[in-house]
Amino acid sequence: MDEIYLDNAATTRPLSEVINRVTEVMENDFGNPSSLHHRGAAAERHIQQTRKFLATLLEVKPGEIYFTSGGTESNNLALKGTALNYKNRGQHLITTQIEHPSVYNAFKSLEETGFKVTYLQPDSRGIISPQQLQKALKPETILVSIMYVNNELGSLEPVSKLAQTIKNYSRDIFFHVDAVQALGKIPLHPQQDNIDLLTVSAHKINGPQGVGALYMKNGMMIKPLLEGGGQERDLRSGTENTPGIAGFLPALKNIPKQVNGGSTDEQLASLKQFTIRQIQNTISRVQINTPQQSAPHIINISLPDIKGEVLVHALEEDDIYVSTGSACHSRQKINNRILKAINLSEKYLEGTIRISLSALNTKQEMEHTVHKIKEKIDYLHI
Ligand SMILES: Cc1ncc(COP(=O)(O)O)c(C=O)c1O
Repeated sequence: MDEIYLDNAATTRPLSEVINRVTEVMENDFGNPSSLHHRGAAAERHIQQTRKFLATLLEVKPGEIYFTSGGTESNNLALKGTALNYKNRGQHLITTQIEHPSVYNAFKSLEETGFKVTYLQPDSRGIISPQQLQKALKPETILVSIMYVNNELGSLEPVSKLAQTIKNYSRDIFFHVDAVQALGKIPLHPQQDNIDLLTVSAHKINGPQGVGALYMKNGMMIKPLLEGGGQERDLRSGTENTPGIAGFLPALKNIPKQVNGGSTDEQLASLKQFTIRQIQNTISRVQINTPQQSAPHIINISLPDIKGEVLVHALEEDDIYVSTGSACHSRQKINNRILKAINLSEKYLEGTIRISLSALNTKQEMEHTVHKIKEKIDYLHI
């Protein structure tokens, strides 16, 4: 069998339309979008096209979309920008123990500058309840950030109910959602769901790496992270990544109609269920960490007496690519923060792998992968 790529939560293979568009724009429309002449205008048109399409998809206004260098930057901008701009209203912030490091560490750094942060602990499924959020809200709270889909476990947070809890308490508290793993898989309606800031990234949906966006509700003001030429309506200085932003468009257009229409990606969800059944029927003593309430593309499993890292490399020998955790930090073993937060028992902590799917994967590939995992485990246990 050819290569089986199952690390789609880390990054995805760019679509050929994406590659063509990036190349085309680099070759033909290399102008600086801020330039007044026609080359500038041509580059600017590419940016506006993607902005408009993303805005329509999210059911927001184009003026509420700001392009950045990716999910990491959008998260930092949203969190630090809001906290710093509204610190006179209060200095209490809320997030969770299972956020991506670009959120978690942004809060750690805000803590160092004097903000007080509450880190909510999820239940054993990796889910945060509106009740526990309710208890954490205080008169001094100015910002809450909770991810839509956890990148390690796939757990799907009840974002709309969490937003309702916040807004019932106070309309002055801002709600940020890291939707990097949700875009393209789950319908996103920030305005309808009372979300003030929402982060997305192109390379998780077969778009180019190094391109992201932040939705920020009209009327909100945040402090920019970068000083410079005032691009993106003064929020994100620096010459825009025009080819990358243009290449984001075909990736957005490729999102299944069904997701835009309001339901999750059923084809992917059924491939995930098929794979989980295969795993349960083939591999003994396996623990499935991904809960029922989860995104359609992530499967996190643990095996006792085995190191996830060893299994990842063993599978690589057969051209099967999975992960031990989020690629951004898997080498630092920080992923244990998330596994510990769901109280995964000690014997399973080391033996965890993440299998993440895309629409390009097939049932045959998944059958073959599960068979190979069993083969490798049997061999490694000898
Ligand atoms: C949930 C989540 N947030 C943020 C990021 C960071 O996005 P980017 O790689 O575009 O900086 C990732 C990437 O793995 C992620 O999974």
